[in-house]
Parts: sequence; C-alpha cells; structure tokens
Amino acid sequence: MTSEIGSERVERLLAELTLEEKLGQLTQYFYFGAIDGGAETADGAPTQPQLVEGALATGGAGALLFVNDPAETNRLQRQAIEGSRHGIPVLFGFDVIHGLRTIFPVPIALAATWDADVIERSQSVAAREARAVGINWVFAPMVDIARDPRWGRMIEGAGEDPLLGGMVAAAQVRGFQGEGIGSAEHVIAGPKHFAGYGAALGGRDYDEANISDQELWNTYFPPFHEAIKAGAGNIMAAYQDLNGVPASGNRWLLHEVLREALGFEGFVVSDANSVRDLETHHFAADLTDAGARALNAGMDMEMAIFDPAFGHLRAAVEDGRVDIARIDESVRRILTAKEALGLFDAPFVDEDAAATVLGDPAHRVAAREAAEASAVLLRNEGVLPLDAAALNRVAVIGPMAASARDTIGPWVFDYDLDETVTIVDGLRTALDGRAEVTYASGVPFDRREFPSMFEMFGDSGPFSPEDFDADAEFAHAVSDAAAADVAVVVLGERQDMIGENASRSSLELPGDQLRLLQAVAETGTPVVLVLMSGRPLDLRWADENVPAILEVWYPGTQGGAAIANLLLGAATPAGRLPFTWPRTVGQVPIHHAVTRSHDPQAQGRRYWDEQSTPLYPFGHGLSYAAFSYGAVAVSAGEVGIDGEVVVSVDVTNTSDRDGAEVVQLYLHQRYGSASRPLRQLAAFERVEVPAGQTRRMQFRIGAEQRRYWSAAIRDWTLDATTFDVWVGGDATASAHAEFTVTA
Ligand code: GLC
Repeated sequence: MTSEIGSERVERLLAELTLEEKLGQLTQYFYFGAIDGGAETADGAPTQPQLVEGALATGGAGALLFVNDPAETNRLQRQAIEGSRHGIPVLFGFDVIHGLRTIFPVPIALAATWDADVIERSQSVAAREARAVGINWVFAPMVDIARDPRWGRMIEGAGEDPLLGGMVAAAQVRGFQGEGIGSAEHVIAGPKHFAGYGAALGGRDYDEANISDQELWNTYFPPFHEAIKAGAGNIMAAYQDLNGVPASGNRWLLHEVLREALGFEGFVVSDANSVRDLETHHFAADLTDAGARALNAGMDMEMAIFDPAFGHLRAAVEDGRVDIARIDESVRRILTAKEALGLFDAPFVDEDAAATVLGDPAHRVAAREAAEASAVLLRNEGVLPLDAAALNRVAVIGPMAASARDTIGPWVFDYDLDETVTIVDGLRTALDGRAEVTYASGVPFDRREFPSMFEMFGDSGPFSPEDFDADAEFAHAVSDAAAADVAVVVLGERQDMIGENASRSSLELPGDQLRLLQAVAETGTPVVLVLMSGRPLDLRWADENVPAILEVWYPGTQGGAAIANLLLGAATPAGRLPFTWPRTVGQVPIHHAVTRSHDPQAQGRRYWDEQSTPLYPFGHGLSYAAFSYGAVAVSAGEVGIDGEVVVSVDVTNTSDRDGAEVVQLYLHQRYGSASRPLRQLAAFERVEVPAGQTRRMQFRIGAEQRRYWSAAIRDWTLDATTFDVWVGGDATASAHAEFTVTA
C-alpha cells in the first residue's frame, strides 16, 4: 500500500474531510462493551463504551479494538458508517495471537516447529476465524527478539535469533494476509512492537531498552524487515524508551529506519495509550505535545482507551507544530488500508456463517498437528514413548494437567473451554480403558503474588478453593505415583504468570512444584515431566533426576490430544528450542551468537559458582528417531567477495522410526572489521527422514548470509576472510568445513 497518492476514492474523501474527521480516522478506541457490559459509572459520567459510541456518531473513530462478536461488529460498523458524513467504515483490530476460537499453540511454540508451513497454516486458520466475526486486522505477529526470559512476553515471539525470527514473522504475515490484503478470509497483519521491546532493562516489561546500533541492525530490525518484505500492512510501535527516546515518539525509528531503511508503506499504530504515555515518560509537555510529536515522528493511528492525544491536535495545527499535509499522509494510509480490505463495498459480516467457520473441524485438526510439531523433547533416558500395552496405571499429577484454561495459554478471548482437551482428557481418550489414568493436582493452583492485569477480564484461574488441603493433596499425588507404572507430572507456570506484565525475577517452578516432583521421583516410579511454559524455567534438578522431560508450551484447544499422541508414540517430537535454555536466572541475558573473548578456554566457566554454558543449547530437541551427520562439503574452498558456496551434508536416520530433523547451519568469520559471533545461525531446514534413510541437505551461503552491520565502519559490509561452517542439530553442531572469501 503506497502512502503517496491514493485511489480516486481515497483522494476524494481526503479532500472533503474536516480536520476533526481526519483526526477521527487517526484514532482507534478500545471498546469494552463486552467486558464492562456498559456498567454505569458512579458519578453518572458516560461509560467508556458510551464515549466510543459518541465518537462513532460523529465520525470520530477510525478503528475499534476488543470486539469479537459478529453481531456487535455489524452493529458498531453500522453506527460508524451512519455517523460519518461520508460513510467511512471502521477497522476492527484485535489480539488474535494464536487463534480466535480454535486456539493454536502459543507463538513461541509455533517458532519451536521451525516449520514455515505449520506456522502459515496456523495463522491462516486464525485469520479465517477472525474475519468471520468482523475482525479485519490483527496485532500480530509479535516480532520482538527476546534473550532475557525474565521478560514474560518471550512467549509471544520467536525467541532469540533474527534468522529464525524472520522466517516465523514472514510465515505468520503470509498466514494472516494470504496472497495479499483483500481476501475475504484474511486480515491485515500488524507486526509488533517496533522496536527493541524485548530488551527491557532487567526483563522488566515496559522498562527502557538500551541497544547498540550493531545489535539493532544485525539482530532486532531484521525480523521486522522480513515481515515487511512479506507485505505486512501495519506495524505497531513499542511502549518503551529505545536508547533514551520513546519508540512512539522516535522519528529516527519510525521514519528513517522503518520507512527509509526497511521500506514500510503501510500504517503505523501506537500501542495502547503509548502516545499519551509520551507525557508519562516526561518526554512530552502535555497531550497536545505528545500527539504532535508522535504524529511528526511517523505515528499514523493512536490506540487509546479514552481522551486520545490526537484529539488535542487542532491546537498543534493552528500553532504550526503539525502540518496538515502530515495528517493527510496518515489519513491516506488508513483509508487505503480500508479500501484494500474491501470495507467500503462490503463492511459487514454474515453472522450466520460465522458459527460454521468457528466450528470447522478442520481447524481443530490443524491445531492438534501444530501442537504435535511444536513440542520439544528436552531429555529422554529410554522412558518415552510409553508402551500402552505395558501400562496398567498412569498417574497424572499437577494442577495444569486438568486445567483447560492453562492448556490454551494467555492472549485468548473467544475460546471454548468445553472443547479444550486437557492432558488428563487426552490420555484417558487415547488409552481408552487399556490402562487406568488417575489424577491428582498435588499442589494448589497458585495465584501470583501481584495479580495479573488480565484478572480485570476475569481471565485468571481457576484457583484452588480456600479449603484446599495441601498436605492431603500432596500425599494423594505421591501415593498415586507409587501405585502407577509411570507418573506424568505436568508442571510449569500458570497461563497468567507469563505474557504481558508478567516479568519474573526468578525462573524457578512457582510454588511447591519442585518439592512435588522430587517426592514423586522418590517413589521410584518412572517420571515423565511435561512442562507447560512459555520461557525456559530452572530445570537443574529435573535434568539430573527425571529421565524424560517434554516441553509442550501451552498447546491449545487440542493440546491434550497432541500430548497423548506424543507420549504414547503416535506422534514423534521434532520441536527445537528457539532460545538458549539457561541453568539459572543468574545467566541471563543469554544466547548462542556470542563472540570469542579473552581466555576462550574458560568461556564455559565465567562464573565461579555455576557453569556459563546453557542447560540446553539454542536449537536443541530430541526425537524418538536418531540422526547422524556425514562430512560437511563446500562447493568451493575460495570465492570472491560476492561469491556463494553450496554447503552439503548427508543426514541419516539411524533408527527404526520415521522422524523429522531440523538441520541447522552455523557460520563464523575468523577476522574482519568487527568481532563476529562464534556461532550464528545462517541457514536451517526441517526435513522428514524415514527410518534408515539418508537425505542430502544443501544450503547456499552467499553475500546475504555473510553481510553484517559493522560498528567499526558504521555501515553494512562484507569481509574478505575465512569462514567456519558447522552443521548439526543445535548450536553445538560439530560437523565442520571452511571456505575463504577473497576481496
Ligand atoms: C497491549 C500490548 C499489545 C496489544 C495491545 C492491544 O498493551 O502491548 O501487544 O496488541 O495492548 O491489546
């Protein structure tokens, strides 16, 4: 979508709109009607929904969010069209992060598939369900690189790596938007939060991020660039200060980087109240100043709950701080988006058809397949897969094993808990009476010390009753384990302990979970730890004492069915970690692409009280199959500065089970204008390898893979140097080759 000259309709509208109507188009309101229920205010002032409906009646809103009912979107759309002199429809945006009614595994789980097809299919289902209810724009994918798991929003992204993150972002954009914005079953994708939000100081959500230029250009910007190249129609600006300037008021970020360097042509929306926040940050003097500086920085639309800063812009136009041409540029981008979606000609949805789309059984199948593909087998000492024929009793333990709400994870609003398959449900269905499946929660459903922001939506819990007898329940779980052939212990963080506003100072299993795991292990019954988390947790004890550990994330509506298939061998785990898994929170931030430094032999023991190496490396994941790598070959030992080599390697499945391997290629240049990572992911491919067979893998490594932004010359560059290539199943890959690039 271009922002220079719009269509004839867009230019005609632009010429006829008043300043207030133009500012209305630049404003997106939350609509809490479904949540507040229009609750009357104590002093009789209008409620938030009433304020919004008032704005709609005067063409004062260009978009809404938080509406996901087809009758409501139609009702509000009709109000908007009738309230606007020119019948301009509104955009309906929403956080459709990993599904609307059919809930898919959380985004970090989708990233763990390393499979673009699975990711694209998952988000195309989400788009179809969203559009069916009238949502035509989603605030996804979250594209923020995250290397500090204290930051709870790691769950919403694709982890630590720009190459993997770029693939995941582009696949999500294609899934949401289809071939291009305009299909009646797709929506506008809104990659977020531009930029650097995941580097919050101390992992504290919303706090400042101070990121070097070389990290911005080499690590944080590239996934956004991939999303933009995939055609993303919207970008959401971040809340936090980036290097001392709020992202939402940062002209260098929103114009020089986003428009000029990355080539974005769509519209930019703020995060919730992040324009008003410019005053909060003590960056803007007042709301008029906040609105003017956000708009002049490149913000096109303000997302607000009430009293938007853009509503104060008349004064800034009159005193010359804002040029009407800048306002017109934003209005043009937004009207162009509405036209691209077809909203001027077909603004309403078919309310009857929505239910059919939301209930499509094919969507549930896709959700289960995505959950099976995303689980990561962290450890397996001969326990998995379980042999159903040899089982008489399976003890399932842990509160989340029976919690439908936790199984679907955070950032969900339109789910159906009755159709959500928990792990207990899934195992009982899969075993179908062949073995008894007992259940004990063992420990109470924990509450957070500081309540989640989502409790305001009543979306935390369920919590254990006041009369929960912790000792009796703990003993019940241990006795169940003692009497069983295997204990499946489901532990992790409750779904409201992770996500937005859910940073932690520790990575330990919350509450009494570790003691429960230890007591169950003490019975001598083989233990399978099934981890529900969206970030790495402290598994040092489990890694030493529990023979099987399966990370299942928050696997979604069909999660229990997928996990039962994985545990019983009907599916084979093939997920790989999209982040480095630390031993302890004291190691963070941590990632795989670090440079070599002084006394490299000791880089594994930089702390005297703990190893520096991770518990599990980036890219780690086991299978029920087994893979071996042949010698790595390069097509040429020497190439020119713009040359390309083809790296080849044979991967053999040495087991009697079919399986998928994620073949990863890591690159390192031995010298050049700047120090470069000892191991940086430069290529990867997930490949199915049948039992006993071999696949030849080939990767092209050219200038694109070797180019980097150098802090020494403060520009993009290629070095004439020697490169090491490692190929394998994670960042510790050992199959090696090298080649030299000459000037
Ligand atoms: C939130 C989040 C953002 C979300 C928006 C609308 O605060 O930061 O990711 O899309 O507000 O819900």
